[in-house]
Amino acid sequence: MKPLRYHLAEDTIDRADVDRLIGWLKTYPRLTQGEITRNFESRWSRWLGRPRSVFCNSGSSANLLMFDALLLSGRLRNRKVIVPSVGWVTSVAPAIQLGFEPIMCEADPDTFGLDLDHLEVLLKRHSPGAVMLVQVLGVPHKMTRLAALKKKHGFILLEDACAAVGAAVSGRKVGTFGDMSSFSFYFGHQFSTIEGGMVSTADKGFHDLLLMLRSHGWSKDLDPRTHKALVARYAIDDFHSPFVFYEPGFNLRSTDLNAFIGLGQLEKLDAMIAARRRNHAIYQALLGGSFYVQRPEPGSKTCSISFGLLAKDPKQRRRIVKALEQAGVETRIFSAGNLGLHPFWSNRYGKASFPFADRIHHTGFFLPNNPALSPEMIRRISRIVLEAA
Ligand SMILES: Cc1ncc(COP(=O)(O)O)c(C=O)c1O
Repeated sequence: MKPLRYHLAEDTIDRADVDRLIGWLKTYPRLTQGEITRNFESRWSRWLGRPRSVFCNSGSSANLLMFDALLLSGRLRNRKVIVPSVGWVTSVAPAIQLGFEPIMCEADPDTFGLDLDHLEVLLKRHSPGAVMLVQVLGVPHKMTRLAALKKKHGFILLEDACAAVGAAVSGRKVGTFGDMSSFSFYFGHQFSTIEGGMVSTADKGFHDLLLMLRSHGWSKDLDPRTHKALVARYAIDDFHSPFVFYEPGFNLRSTDLNAFIGLGQLEKLDAMIAARRRNHAIYQALLGGSFYVQRPEPGSKTCSISFGLLAKDPKQRRRIVKALEQAGVETRIFSAGNLGLHPFWSNRYGKASFPFADRIHHTGFFLPNNPALSPEMIRRISRIVLEAA
């Protein structure tokens, strides 16, 4: 097989980042989670516009933490949760792992997020305690209408912005709409800490639970006042207090090494977002007229990690994929296609087949978008696609 010339994902951790990391390592710092992590969390919060953030070891862990914090918060009226058909397996898996009753929703034909007409039907029928929204591929969802549904039906909103860092709606960043929101800092995403994830929230109760659940269920990572209040409530002596477990937690921590990388990535995040937006706009201009692509609402700003598009039919997709592969351009299915067609779902609940999500499943594909790609490279890739179509 020919070596790939254009990869879907390129490392955003460059030589300067590595040199800075080596310089810091030569000071022989303590590498486990500590002060650098707290600094990274507060700098991330400031960049995002949400007061509280919890750094963990992946976007999937961030989703797991959100679902578990929600469950333990006592704020759910029931365990029903609406989940998207288009997203990632770990947008949905924690609901199954933690004993929720997940109900799958069709994909929206504009943003490919939750179909809000179908969501409304499901809200009326099931009155679920929670809704999981995935901001699909950095194209912001229809947040005004979703906010109106939230107000009317009173559910708690989890927002998976794992592949949408840098997207915005009328100046408000994606990842600030959910009661809790998750982000992935995996290699090739908008920004990388090698592996990594974050949960951000404005809610102190959720934040305290997230901090405890990330680290075994202990209270050591809480602010001193909250920690002391817990110690007093349970009449715990000083010797025991660091090792008292208030919740059945996990260990989903990352390290100060990853947080150090994250601080460096934050310095160049806005520039990387600008490059991804530029590339996305070129693809949109060259291919948007010939293919079905996501259609963001007016006032939305997209920030994608790949450019996703739908072929006319599976046959056309096969033709395009072959041409791309021959030219050394990496491609793949659109996210996970329809999650309702995967065995992890169908083995439990039967196939969840929906007209639009199935179309994404059978005809969708990705083209590379990363800050390392120049406009000329994007034009070259687009030409290959158009010729093969
Ligand atoms: C929508 C979505 N949610 C969650 C994840 C999981 O993130 P991670 O790979 O950091 O676990 C991904 C990964 O791409 C994703 O696209």
